[in-house]
Amino acid sequence: MKLKASLILCFIIVLLTSAKQLVLTDYLNLPEIPFDYSINLPTYFTTNAQGGPPGAVTVLINTPVDNPITNDGATLGRVLFYDKNLSLNRTISCSSCHQQANGFSDLSVKSTGFLGGLTTRHAMTLIDAKYYQNGRFFWDERAATLEAQVLQPIQNEVEMGLTLSQISDRINEQPYYNQLFINAFGNNTVTTDRVSKALAQFVRSIESYQSKYDVGRATVNNPNANFPNFTAAENQGKNLFFTPPQNGGGGCAGCHATEAFAGIGAQNNGLDLNTSADQGQGQGRFKTGTLRNIELTAPYMHDGRFSTLEQVVEHYNSGVKAHPNLANRLKNANGTPIILNFTDAQKAALVSFLKTLTDNTIASEVRWSNPFVPCQADLSLSGNISSGTYKSSNAINLLNGSNQNSSNLNVNAGKYVEISVPFEVKTGTVFKAQIEGCN
Ligand code: HEC
Ligand code: HEC
Repeated sequence: MKLKASLILCFIIVLLTSAKQLVLTDYLNLPEIPFDYSINLPTYFTTNAQGGPPGAVTVLINTPVDNPITNDGATLGRVLFYDKNLSLNRTISCSSCHQQANGFSDLSVKSTGFLGGLTTRHAMTLIDAKYYQNGRFFWDERAATLEAQVLQPIQNEVEMGLTLSQISDRINEQPYYNQLFINAFGNNTVTTDRVSKALAQFVRSIESYQSKYDVGRATVNNPNANFPNFTAAENQGKNLFFTPPQNGGGGCAGCHATEAFAGIGAQNNGLDLNTSADQGQGQGRFKTGTLRNIELTAPYMHDGRFSTLEQVVEHYNSGVKAHPNLANRLKNANGTPIILNFTDAQKAALVSFLKTLTDNTIASEVRWSNPFVPCQADLSLSGNISSGTYKSSNAINLLNGSNQNSSNLNVNAGKYVEISVPFEVKTGTVFKAQIEGCN
């Protein structure tokens, strides 16, 4: 009797273990109610300051009337931004080069695309993309709007390598987009126009407004007053930043303007005498991006030539070249390039001020983070696996598997492993598959 009972128990245990459902990964980790992507900017952002720069950011906003940020739109954009299925071999997403931990930029001088090729310029930060008066994007401002820009990396032959029509196909393949499109646009029709709108909403939602600078700025009416939370060097650096060269400052705020420290258009800042290797927007002019979070987005300039802020400051201090198209703000009255002649202490102060523009909350902000459930590098299935769909957000390659009836196993690259009928693996044998794109 005892023997019989224990035999039955054994049998049940075997049954239970062999029939266990193996769920590989779920796709996404999104909240029931979408995150709030609206930001209540402190009022000093949107009002002109007393006593001089910086002025209100309102003049710089480039959000078009037909694409305001919605919580569901930005959520869809977030998923697209982190989805490796948008590159030809499913290895690269926007986030590969625009990394949250690095101010949505890349530590490498040039970024690596889907086939290992290198981009021609340094990856730009996406922080405060919303604030650029002429609304143009890329170092050479070749994209007229952010909506036009975001589809270009997907189609770029070095970066992600898809064609325009492949973009919709790739999205339609993924089971998780159906609901996301319905939420964002009312129905599940996938169009590249919707993809561009959602990606642009997500990018525009990324803003810096919680830096040490902001903490200090909120306590004073006049931004030129000393900030109580700043060190003496940081306050000195702030003055040098805002004060024009003719009054002994660096005049930085003339081009890196407003509370977003962003520009109004492309400028030549005197990096080279001869710009024939890269003329940028034309005649050696390049986009004057935001300096918010600049500490995190090294290396600097369109070609990543400077690895430190000290080098950048030294450029403005003593290295500005007499390019025929050099911006007026970097010239003396007689047309020669300015030389600031800062002391070492002044240069260090300016660098320490630039570091107060770092908003450390950006790196940990969940609503801008990767929503995909982390995938496993290898999966080993053994025992009798019951019929079912085994999900993964990434492509799955079967590596080996003995005694498996492969006709029962339907592997959809980039989709999921679908096991249509009970699929048997002899006890003790291991079936191995690898999920692509896992780091
Ligand atoms: C392989 C690396 C790489 C990938 C992938 C990539 N980017 Fe970029 N991104 C760059 C580089 C490099 C630049 C600057 C290129 C230039 O100006 O010529 C850039 C520039 C940009 C800009 C311009 C910012 C500005 O202020 O003008 C935006 C916006 C942007 N990328 C968004 C995206 C989005 C959205 C995706 C995904 C759909 C993406 N990027 C994928 C490397 C990459
Ligand atoms: C005439 C306008 C102008 C002035 C004045 C100016 N800048 Fe710039 N700044 C630019 C432009 C344009 C770029 C991008 C140039 C490029 O990449 O080719 C730039 C780039 C930078 C960068 C690198 C940005 C990045 O994302 O790589 C830093 C840092 C910077 N400037 C700091 C300063 C400081 C500090 C001052 C004052 C000493 C200053 N700038 C004055 C126009 C200006």
